Amino acid sequence: MKIRVAVVYGGRSTEHEISIISAVQAMRAFDTERYEVIPVYMTKENLSYTGDLLRDISSFQGDIARMLAGAVQVDFIREGNRVLLMRHERKRFGENVISEVDVVFPVVHGTNVEDGTLTGFFATLRLPVVGCDVLSGAVGMNKAVMKAVCKAHDIPVLDCRTYGWKDYEDEENLMNEIESSFSYPVIVKPVNLGSSIGISRADNRKELEEALSLAFSFAKRILVERAITRLKEVNCAVLGDEEEAEASECESPLGADEILSFEDKYMSGAKGATKGQKGVKGTVPAKGAKSGASGAKGAGMASLTRKLPADITPEKREEIRALAVRAFRVLGCAGVARIDFMIDKEDDDRVYLNEINTVPGSLSFYLWEPAGVSYRELIDRMIEIALKKERQEEQILYSFDTNVLAGVRL
Ligand SMILES: Nc1ncnc2c1ncn2[C@@H]1O[C@H](COP(=O)(O)OP(=O)(O)O)[C@@H](O)[C@H]1O
Ligand SMILES: [Mg+2]
Repeated sequence: MKIRVAVVYGGRSTEHEISIISAVQAMRAFDTERYEVIPVYMTKENLSYTGDLLRDISSFQGDIARMLAGAVQVDFIREGNRVLLMRHERKRFGENVISEVDVVFPVVHGTNVEDGTLTGFFATLRLPVVGCDVLSGAVGMNKAVMKAVCKAHDIPVLDCRTYGWKDYEDEENLMNEIESSFSYPVIVKPVNLGSSIGISRADNRKELEEALSLAFSFAKRILVERAITRLKEVNCAVLGDEEEAEASECESPLGADEILSFEDKYMSGAKGATKGQKGVKGTVPAKGAKSGASGAKGAGMASLTRKLPADITPEKREEIRALAVRAFRVLGCAGVARIDFMIDKEDDDRVYLNEINTVPGSLSFYLWEPAGVSYRELIDRMIEIALKKERQEEQILYSFDTNVLAGVRL
């Protein structure tokens, strides 16, 4: 019998649209001989829908409300030893069970979904989930916590400090504290967002004020770190789990100027996605080409925004791939994750781990193809890992016979 896989995507996240692209792409890559793929689209209010039209990108290019009228609202429900996808509005007569679900495959990006919340929901249903568990998803989403775990394992990261809205109430004091901890230029970023949202660079106090205002408008907690001025970025994906993990090919996203010229060349008029980052001098490249319009997390024209394989020496490539695997393991990841590095060209090409994406755009399939793993095989292996984890879970005891309640009088 085919394995019934619910591919869940969208949700209440700033990266909702990118997730639609990643999921529709992924659904097309499944081996339909082995799997029955059930699309489950979560609206920006986190309501879930299923239906055949949710497999098609063109359905999302028109009026969403009208499209949803042609889909069925559903809920995941555990019933006995099964998990069912049920009609939200039950019919009095007729079938309310849309499908039984064997495993769920979240293809979601960003805070509120990729950070363990969705995985936790499915864990309470006792449904095998593809990818990271709650803790690794949550740690991966918080850049400051992720750095602390890496640092404890001697994985190089830039030192950072984090501040919250409470600290920001006394802005002068906060800026003094930042200036006593770092020298300019610094980078200010929300601890838990993606797609370069709310990130900027400050070269002086005036710019720091603007950078704080921008970052705090997107998040309650931000981090500050030294800015690398001559930067080369390299990304590498890892596939596996704590027991066994391997690294993909490395890519090098084009730098700021290169991306700007890319936008000018191919995408004039497609810069809406960079809003909110304008007006801050010294802003980190607002990657419209990377985050928004082109869905460059892997889709479409994105291939024009990266060099693949990365133009680095074989030694650097191996250093980065080894660091990626170690980070994946110490963070307790599973499935596929993309780990992004920064090379400081000013400092003898030192490598720093910058961030981890526990559900990378396009599941980073394009980094696996040059490593000899097709998109179809990548999906197979991700599902196998989830099912293996489930088999191990079954061996752990979660109940414990006790008479502790017997003597209690309240
Ligand atoms: N410390 C830094 N020094 C220089 N540039 C940085 C630094 N941190 C981030 N950047 C730039 O900002 C981009 C986005 O930052 P990142 O931490 O990757 O956040 P996001 O999750 O939004 O992708 C990076 O790809 C890099 O170009
Ligand atoms: Mg990034």
